[in-house]
Amino acid sequence: VLVVKENNIDDKALEGIKRAGEIIKKGGLVAFPTETVYGLGGDGLNPESSKKIYAAKGRPSDNPLIVHVSNMEDVKDIVKEVPDSAIKLANAFWPGPLTMIMNKNDRVPYETTGGLDTVAIRMPNNKIALALIEASGGYIAAPSANISGRPSPTLAKYCEEDLSGKIEMIIDGGQVGIGLESTIVDLTSEIPMILRPGYITAEMLKDVLGEISIDKTIIDSSSTERPKAPGMKYRHYAPKGELTIIQGDQDKVVSFINSKAKEAKAAGKKVGVIGTDATKGLYEADVVKSVGNREDESTIAHELFKVLREFDDEQIDIMYSESFDDSGIGQAIMNRLLKAAGHNVITL
Ligand code: TXA
Ligand code: MG
Repeated sequence: VLVVKENNIDDKALEGIKRAGEIIKKGGLVAFPTETVYGLGGDGLNPESSKKIYAAKGRPSDNPLIVHVSNMEDVKDIVKEVPDSAIKLANAFWPGPLTMIMNKNDRVPYETTGGLDTVAIRMPNNKIALALIEASGGYIAAPSANISGRPSPTLAKYCEEDLSGKIEMIIDGGQVGIGLESTIVDLTSEIPMILRPGYITAEMLKDVLGEISIDKTIIDSSSTERPKAPGMKYRHYAPKGELTIIQGDQDKVVSFINSKAKEAKAAGKKVGVIGTDATKGLYEADVVKSVGNREDESTIAHELFKVLREFDDEQIDIMYSESFDDSGIGQAIMNRLLKAAGHNVITL
């Protein structure tokens, strides 16, 4: 584990990052911080590296990886053409939490794209990540650095928990800033389409592109269609305990959860509640955690995966969570929370 402070990349840190870059160039794997979640990085142009990533994560190999770049020139070298929309979006949001899907050229192996002719590309907004990409030859394929099915890691210690012994190095850059994975937008369809909601919202994309569509499997939980991002079909972020989302007026939610918690406790279960700063004190359960402040939903994005992991660590059997607004970044929060709950929602 190499500890690096993003705001103070001194010579020693730089030397460590160079070493990490050499590991990746030689086909090894390094976990590293980005502004969204930690990534598990390998050489995106080396098919053997991508195979190793799937093996380390226990991830199905039909689920493509995101290729991380550090500049626009490098994008041109791995795609058939850079669409105008990509240039507009890059100007507006790169480096940042936005992944764009374009038609790949022959330099990108099918091992990296899960057999697809398209490639997902992102320029992360984290100085450690950008330095590592440069030191690695320009193209780091990186999924989130968790075992498949666990919440994405927002702290280096969770990468260690999941991947220690399976990868060559972990760069610890502290807790990530955003906490949810990047927004994915497909630029190969006629109208650009959001395949995964994130910090860059539909409204923000629409401001730049004029027109945007949303893969309807994201918003309609009853849809039987296949999500267009292969990874979205898996039940991600599954906590070990059973999670139910409770929707309704605050007073009703609190009293419903408290009575359910009492019942479950009587049955010998350990109960956890995901509340917010304003409601945390109102619940009676074994463990009550605030996931953030409703007035600033980015605080909720920041803490959500950490809170889910903490409940796992505390061996909670049954969890209840409040529900959140489905607009702006709330769409990404609810997308992840609904997945964690296996779409288990009670509306009061
Ligand atoms: O914020 C992030 O995007 C993080 C950090 C590390 O950059 N990475 C991340 O990667 O979340 P991962 O592998 O956990 O999620 C990648 C998602 C999957 O749902 C995958 O199916 C989708 O991107 N994806 C990748 N390439 C694709 C493609 N060519 N077409 C459609 N979906 C694609
Ligand atoms: Mg992931």
